Amino acid sequence: MNAVSNPAHVIDFAGIKREHAELADVLNARIAEVMASGQMLQGPGVVALEQSLALACGRAEAVCVGSGTDALYFALLSVGVGPGDEVIVPDISFIATAAAVARTGARPVFVDVDDACLLDLEAAGRAVTPRTKAVVMVQLFGAMSDPEALRAFGAAYGVAIIEDAAQAFGATHGEAAAGGVGLASALSFDPMKVLSAPGSGGAVLTDDASIAARVRRLRYHGREAGDYVEPGYNSQLSTLAAAVLSTKLERQTDWAARRARIAERYIHEFSDLPLERPSVSPHVRHVWHKFVLRAAERDRFMAHLKSVGVPTLAHYPRPFHREPMFGVAADGLFPNAVRHAGSTLSLPIHAHLTEVEVERIIAAVRGFFA
Ligand SMILES: Cc1ncc(COP(=O)(O)O)c(C=O)c1O
Repeated sequence: MNAVSNPAHVIDFAGIKREHAELADVLNARIAEVMASGQMLQGPGVVALEQSLALACGRAEAVCVGSGTDALYFALLSVGVGPGDEVIVPDISFIATAAAVARTGARPVFVDVDDACLLDLEAAGRAVTPRTKAVVMVQLFGAMSDPEALRAFGAAYGVAIIEDAAQAFGATHGEAAAGGVGLASALSFDPMKVLSAPGSGGAVLTDDASIAARVRRLRYHGREAGDYVEPGYNSQLSTLAAAVLSTKLERQTDWAARRARIAERYIHEFSDLPLERPSVSPHVRHVWHKFVLRAAERDRFMAHLKSVGVPTLAHYPRPFHREPMFGVAADGLFPNAVRHAGSTLSLPIHAHLTEVEVERIIAAVRGFFA
């Protein structure tokens, strides 16, 4: 019995080891080239990756930085967000979305999400005040919001749209790509992401040359053309990480297609179960960074899956408005976020799940309701 067919074998939640095993020969050769070059930062591979990312997202410029969190923070600073401003943020996302806003000195204003866990634009409209400077639209779980509705929102209220596309590289809505929406977008290359680095990494994408120039200054001590013109940070993507990311970039289309087939399978196989399954607009190509279900008895369901070797995670079990960091607010304004947080669980989904493993996951889910 091998590890895959052995029911005692715990399925890998994210598949990073298998991603690296598939590409081992090419990765090792490219890593060796960078090591031999000696140029570990600011190497030509970083510039090449920036060009590929800009092209993939339909942007004029991409600037690689040290993490997705820094990408979001630098994007916010570069559109002028600072102390005294308010920035509208969905009440459910990874903590970095709201923390990056707080780091600028602005106040994150939490707004409820829709059934797909994306920012509810109607509720966002009600939250706009004269201090509102920007809205952060998070393309959560690999989905994508309607870029036209966002553009119209930004124009109607006179606020900047910043896209947190950390989880959605490769997603599209009609002709628009994630990473290509709003004044500036942030990508993350964290190891759990669909396009993942050997460590932290991120990028800001924009069509505005002055935003790109500011992010370039911020990522390296405020330097521009040899002068240090403002206090900045040291937030660079290593040349090694760029080499790994460029190699994985070549596999994104196939890997996303495999995840989409698994998601279709899950959606189909669970249609008769008392579970809320993700629904995807026909205009959207979802990249299935996460496959998120909602279940009434979530904790018992997760414990059952764990007991049969199927790991799950809850994305995200606590809405921002309940985090002590932000000063806890009443639940009443965020009914969808509260409902989601109390019932969400994510199943393993990655391109290197075998058919046998997918069958095991389906059987394990069905087994709970049998
Ligand atoms: C929605 C979202 N925003 C921002 C980030 C921050 O990215 P990083 O972990 O690369 O700093 C992440 C990922 O971790 C994320 O999922």
